[in-house]
Amino acid sequence: MSESFDVKLEAKTYKPDSSYMENSNIGDWETAYNRYLKDPDGFWDGIAKELSWFKPWDAVKEWKHPYAKWFVNAKTNITFNCLDRHVNSELRNKVALIWRGEEEEQERIFTYRQLHREVQRCANALKNLGIKKGDTVCIYMPLIPEHIVAMLACARIGAVHSIVYGGFGAAALHTRIRDASAKVVITADVGYRRGKHVPLKSIVGEAVVNAPSVEKIVVVRRTRPQVELVSEMEIDYYELLNEAGKECEPEVMDAEDPLFILYTSGTTGQPKGIVHTTGGYMVGTYYTTKYIFDLKENDVHWCTADPGWITGHSYIVYGPLAAGATILITETVPDYPDPSVWWKIIEEFGVTIFYTAPTAIRMFMKFGEEWPNKANLDSLRIIGSVGEPLNPEAFEWYHRVIGKSVCPILDTWWQTETGMHMITTLVGEPMKPGFAGKAIPGVQVDVVDKEGNPTPPNVGGLLVIKEPWPSMMRTVHKNDERYRQYWSTIEPFYTAGDLAVKDKDGYIMVLGRSDDIIIVAGHNIGTAEVESALVSHEAVAESAVIGKPDAMKGQAIKAFVILRLGYEQSEKLKNELIYHVRMSIGPIAMPSEIEFVSSLPKTRSGKIMRRVLKAQEMGIDPGDISTLEE
Ligand code: WT7
Repeated sequence: MSESFDVKLEAKTYKPDSSYMENSNIGDWETAYNRYLKDPDGFWDGIAKELSWFKPWDAVKEWKHPYAKWFVNAKTNITFNCLDRHVNSELRNKVALIWRGEEEEQERIFTYRQLHREVQRCANALKNLGIKKGDTVCIYMPLIPEHIVAMLACARIGAVHSIVYGGFGAAALHTRIRDASAKVVITADVGYRRGKHVPLKSIVGEAVVNAPSVEKIVVVRRTRPQVELVSEMEIDYYELLNEAGKECEPEVMDAEDPLFILYTSGTTGQPKGIVHTTGGYMVGTYYTTKYIFDLKENDVHWCTADPGWITGHSYIVYGPLAAGATILITETVPDYPDPSVWWKIIEEFGVTIFYTAPTAIRMFMKFGEEWPNKANLDSLRIIGSVGEPLNPEAFEWYHRVIGKSVCPILDTWWQTETGMHMITTLVGEPMKPGFAGKAIPGVQVDVVDKEGNPTPPNVGGLLVIKEPWPSMMRTVHKNDERYRQYWSTIEPFYTAGDLAVKDKDGYIMVLGRSDDIIIVAGHNIGTAEVESALVSHEAVAESAVIGKPDAMKGQAIKAFVILRLGYEQSEKLKNELIYHVRMSIGPIAMPSEIEFVSSLPKTRSGKIMRRVLKAQEMGIDPGDISTLEE
């Protein structure tokens, strides 16, 4: 599907009250965008100067396609901007972080000053374990304040964090620990989910077998009586912090020193370790929080993602803290003990900015309006969406039921690789359901055919980014060639891997992936990753995985499986295979359907043609099948 194709586009336009635009930090799109276009480097120079640097830059950027340096030779530390800058100002006693546990009375609050102290302790604790600038620390934690502290502590001392979402299983964690050569893993004994324990520490125990880089496992012990620390490698988080010194000066980081690695699913079985650096990432996430999400002094910012995803990195932690927000995190799931829990949290804490995913919105639609209607949501000012297309029905519901037909919706398109928002509709601009919007000021995108020529309005094509931006990834860990591919598929542009279409007003609708990645409930799953988990089961000879439209999750995973000789097809075996994927990758990658087959459609060169399976499944034309083997 890399040729251009026609798309029928029509959308009702929603216009927010003019007070939104009048009071917004960025103003109208056209003026702001033209200001950027007239002087791109000057635009970013101005934003960067709002932050603190130990040494200023010699140049805003240095671009040698496809390699970028931003804020050349500048020195800073992102935690200085997220913490010290505020502690040194009147924001010292402002609440930085609110945590709400699964039980109603579980609440922890940190002012900027307290968070600053905690981070310094943890940073010193890591130093005491021998962690130095450039070492990698893996964080595999539930959504508790210590998670945020651990991230910032790494950044404080220049250690590179590699966060693995706590819903991943042992095999996925193992691969990521090994690829990043993590020296320390920070975890907790358990996470809580619907009143039950998620045994994080035992999963880590399994994952570090044959991961020789790991020297220590630091454990936040939450349950009482405390679990025993068994192996010599395990250390208690608080014992370590208690022994650590109080003050830890921020490491002087070059703007281009790596800040973190974050794995995202690729089209091969091996996940890609996306590398982000310090200065540009800091500027990009700060800018988008302040000017795209229009953050104001009194906002309470709740991004419902997990820090294990880029959304959490950028919009729970770095962007909002750099901008001096009050952030809310919670270990609750949306429907436990009942589907009113999140709406009550909004009411109780006075959340003003709420950022979630289409899959959650569709789930809330299914539960019914009565749940949000039980709470007073008047504090909400701006609501956002990310992860996959926000379909018009979900837009309408979100706008009416949650936003009370007042709040602008920011449907933000971006990726792990982009680090920050790229496309959305600015606060106060007319919104079109189904369309993410236009490129934000600071970014240039287009929809092109495979030769790189812009497609006319209403003709679909590939989404590309035409110019470098500060928070772009700098490489793929240990696979720079894969990095270069992003910039060489349709040279000289960055190819996002998404299909999209523009309407006559320049609004962009993102249609879905153009490659073998399935987005299930907002999570990127590589077909190859699921396939390799399946074939690692003794009964499976070969498998092919496709995404199927699903009313709730956007896409659901269907797996076609060829059994090895001697294995019988059965429902029991299907369930066993699903369980096997669950244990190796995690619940998010579980196929919802398995079909046993005796052969798979392949190209003559032996590549599985998933699009043929998909077309068959959906009863549509498979397109060009000239390369199909007989
Ligand atoms: C892919 C990136 C960015 C954080 C979450 C996902 C899809 C993301 C949207 C949106 C349509 C979207 C794209 C993209 N996507 N946001 N607003 N509308 N599609 O990050 O895991 O790196 O996935 O998510 O397909 O390429 P990610």
